[in-house]
Amino acid sequence: MAGASSGAAGSATAQEHWSSRWAFIMAAVGSAVGLGNLVRFPAEVGANGGGAFVIFYILCVVLIGLPVLLSETLIGRHGQSSAIESVKNVAAESGASRWWSLAAGVGMIAAFLILTYYSVLAGWIVYFIGIFGSDVAGAIGSGDIGGGALTGRSVEDVQAILPGLQADPATMLVMHAIFMAITVFIVARGVLGGIEKVAVYLMPAFFVLIAGITIYGAFTGAFSSALEFLFAFEPARLLDPTVQLSALGQALFSLSLGSALMITYGAYASRDTNLAKTSAQIASADTSVAIIAGLAIFPIMFAAMAPGVLDAVLAGEEEVQGGLGLLFINLPVAFQSMPAGSLIGFLFFIMVFFAALTSSVSLLEASVSWAKRRFGVSRLSTTLVLGGIAFLIGAWASFSFNSQAEFQPLDFLIFSGQPVFGIIDELTAKIMLPISALLVAIFVGWVADKRLIDSENGLDGGLHKFWRFLIRWLCPLVITAILVSGLFPGLLGQ
Ligand code: PFF
Repeated sequence: MAGASSGAAGSATAQEHWSSRWAFIMAAVGSAVGLGNLVRFPAEVGANGGGAFVIFYILCVVLIGLPVLLSETLIGRHGQSSAIESVKNVAAESGASRWWSLAAGVGMIAAFLILTYYSVLAGWIVYFIGIFGSDVAGAIGSGDIGGGALTGRSVEDVQAILPGLQADPATMLVMHAIFMAITVFIVARGVLGGIEKVAVYLMPAFFVLIAGITIYGAFTGAFSSALEFLFAFEPARLLDPTVQLSALGQALFSLSLGSALMITYGAYASRDTNLAKTSAQIASADTSVAIIAGLAIFPIMFAAMAPGVLDAVLAGEEEVQGGLGLLFINLPVAFQSMPAGSLIGFLFFIMVFFAALTSSVSLLEASVSWAKRRFGVSRLSTTLVLGGIAFLIGAWASFSFNSQAEFQPLDFLIFSGQPVFGIIDELTAKIMLPISALLVAIFVGWVADKRLIDSENGLDGGLHKFWRFLIRWLCPLVITAILVSGLFPGLLGQ
């Protein structure tokens, strides 16, 4: 390699590539499939009344997510650099202003901020792996692997595990540090030796685990209630703007869009990769995982619900507790009374860990790939410094669960009542990701040279015309709608 002999700066600028299309797909699916699918999606389904949300979500993935995903990967593949530099390169070739790179700049900062709290949450997963790991070891020791999990503890004790962890900053920080250190270790090893390797091993393992747990849930849990919950809907809710907007926000988050990640990963794609086909495969894998996650989680959770409560949930009279509570409180309680509960609980949290790790490496890589070029430093030093800063911000944010819960420095608009942790989440998901995705859509649809775009996108005929219509018109309009209503919820009249 020509750059190899020119020292640190040379190795900082050399562009690496995935070793195969399969590796690209695994890495991109690894980035897309994460806590967004396993925690946020079931929570949003629960909060937005089940089936209507699911249907609208799928529409958003196809009509908004997929065109933007293709746009991001093609900018990266053509630009052949970090996300910011790739946009600059495409803009320069198109005779447009370099300021369009703001599209990637906003996304890259969002990805970095998301990483800070993502690692705190993933640290909780590490903690639960420890709890279920020692439980399963005990069960094997006593020869009773077929029984429920955490049998020595009352339901109240199990419900108190998460609040107990949140009240114990030292343990929470250690878990956060462990997860961030693993992420840094992988990213520091590079695109081929780290990110790709982890993706090609962990993603197939993830798919085996999620398939196994879903089948287990189908046989032992309340599978038909879960199906009813996920797919039955009142058509009127399809028109509910809050349902629509939540579905749109979730689609961007889940496909890792508006966060510079897919531009970064697209730059590592080889010339002979058909980006349209690959983007469609990434989007369908991510969406299938979200739905399968629902089919894995809800049957297990519903099995532990009192029949009256379950009926009320299915009738839409009661909301399912979503989000963190669902994964860290309801599921552990459910595993207490399920057959082989400790083993399944252990495997469940290992599965979530794999998904979170392949996403967190992409969240860190977006800024590492830029900073190592910008400052001409080695990948190792860049990764250590950025991982360290992300750890410190995450550590600060994690105090939102205890001593700093009352510290709400931006008490206005969507930030009102939010401690630092919530502020980072709101700022990134409701403002920064949509802004970045919007700028990408306008840039690709209206600004960049059409011939350049057409030579990269792998589309022709009617499908090409349809994609152009979506990226020029539908995507900018709909994303603007999310942004405005996210910032000014009052406009929707709620
Ligand atoms: N797409 C991943 C998830 O759903 O968890 C990770 C992620 C990437 C989230 C980029 C948010 C984001 F902006």
